Amino acid sequence: MAFNLKGRSFLTLLDFTPDEIRYLLDLSSELKTSRRAGHRGRTLEGKCIALLFEKPSTRTRCAFVAACVDEGAHPEYLGKNDVQFGKKETTKDTARVLGRMFVGIQFRGFAHKTVEDLAQYSGVPVWNGLTDRFHPTQALADTLTLQENFGKNVRGLGLAYVGDGRNNVANSLLVVSAKLGMDFRCVSPESLFPEKALLEQCRAIAATTGAKITVTAKVDEGVKGAHALYTDVWASMGEEDKIAERIALLKPYQITEGMFQKTGRGDAIFLHCLPAFHNLETEVSKKTPDICEVTEEVFEGPRSRVFDQAENRVHTIKAVMVATLGNK
Ligand code: CP
Ligand code: NVA
Repeated sequence: MAFNLKGRSFLTLLDFTPDEIRYLLDLSSELKTSRRAGHRGRTLEGKCIALLFEKPSTRTRCAFVAACVDEGAHPEYLGKNDVQFGKKETTKDTARVLGRMFVGIQFRGFAHKTVEDLAQYSGVPVWNGLTDRFHPTQALADTLTLQENFGKNVRGLGLAYVGDGRNNVANSLLVVSAKLGMDFRCVSPESLFPEKALLEQCRAIAATTGAKITVTAKVDEGVKGAHALYTDVWASMGEEDKIAERIALLKPYQITEGMFQKTGRGDAIFLHCLPAFHNLETEVSKKTPDICEVTEEVFEGPRSRVFDQAENRVHTIKAVMVATLGNK
């Protein structure tokens, strides 16, 4: 069933009903099939779209560009060093200027309030490409990946997020799981448990959708029966000063094949939003070898679906833009 999301911003999945989220996932899947068959749409034809970035990005930036071009839009990348935003101009003023020139704005950055202000003052749909609090386009791509592996109905599906339980990715997975009735487990040290207010909000949603939410520091309990183990970096962008502290806290939560054995499911898959530390071939992991949140064996092994997730960023981001802005 189609839902009219025209003109809406996409800041957090908390703002969308379960049916609206399922509609975005169905549209993503439809657009994926169509793109793979070589078709390109014209639903965003002639539209100028701003991609405003305070933090670096590979997947999100490229997915927005590819999705725009596929549907006939023009994406304009605005890096924090190229524009006045933040240094000489307020968010409110930037929002009003961009809203006069572009028909949609993607924002990636630090404070969640910035993306809310852009939405409030620009007058055009604003899409959250990651803030310190949420990463909703990622959670959509992850859910599409789960559907592709375990079937369209994700109700009751065991998703164990293991690692920093209060970061943007963990928060968005908690929200999407609550909305879609999943069996979500946040497995992390107590000091990194999700923020109480968000957890309470999600537990209230879960009471209406049949979702199960478990928050535990115990790996064995958290991963038992899980269909997917998901992790993310132990220190997010902007938290570089916390790396040593996080390694000490999170070492027992590194994803290994041994942890997968504890799920008891031969078909359990590995998910990661990427970028990931899984070997010593990056500048950072060379200097800090203990930083790897997943072993090379799991990352490169048969359980890994991380590049499907990455590809699904294009299809889900396209669905969000088409649904909120497209001529469809
Ligand atoms: N997963 C993700 O958002 O990746 P980028 O930081 O490369 O955009
Ligand atoms: N939690 C990570 C996600 C990167 C896509 C970060 O914010 O750096």
